[in-house]
Amino acid sequence: MHDAVRKLWPELDWITDPGLRAKTARTWERAFELSPLTPGDLNRIPFTLLVPNCPTTFMEHKRCVVHIAQKAACSMKEFMGNALPINVDTVIAGAILADVGKLLEYETVDGKAKQSKRGEMLRHPFTGVALAMECGVPDEVCHIIAAHAAEGELVKRSTEAYIVHHADFMAYLPFKNLK
Ligand SMILES: [Fe+2]
Repeated sequence: MHDAVRKLWPELDWITDPGLRAKTARTWERAFELSPLTPGDLNRIPFTLLVPNCPTTFMEHKRCVVHIAQKAACSMKEFMGNALPINVDTVIAGAILADVGKLLEYETVDGKAKQSKRGEMLRHPFTGVALAMECGVPDEVCHIIAAHAAEGELVKRSTEAYIVHHADFMAYLPFKNLK
């Protein structure tokens, strides 16, 4: 599974801290151990169940969010880094892990992905934090997983969490217009 995760996420190489890179990869490996989905499924299933016949796959969306977040973090650091400290490793790891809990939100029925009972009870920000903490991911990255989605409106987001939240939503909300 280690090699499959590395193949799924070339962006893991962008994390400069080898310890954080290993914990981030391990969290994805752990999620696959507990999920009915395979790495191949993620290149096939739509990234959201909320847009009917969504043409973009899970991995296309997730990797796009990581790319947007990394570029945004670097731009903010370049122009405003003196006033606003930004840890780019934290942004990249948080973006890679934001939706890892979704692997526990789905089940496959007749070859189609649908929401699991656990997904109904515990949305992916919660299960994502549980998986990441089990794998030793630091709190500032778990914070991004916890706060990246709507639940995060109730939380004081870190700078890194704001970046991932907006990267995620700008790559999601326009799809609602396709309905
Ligand atoms: Fe999400």
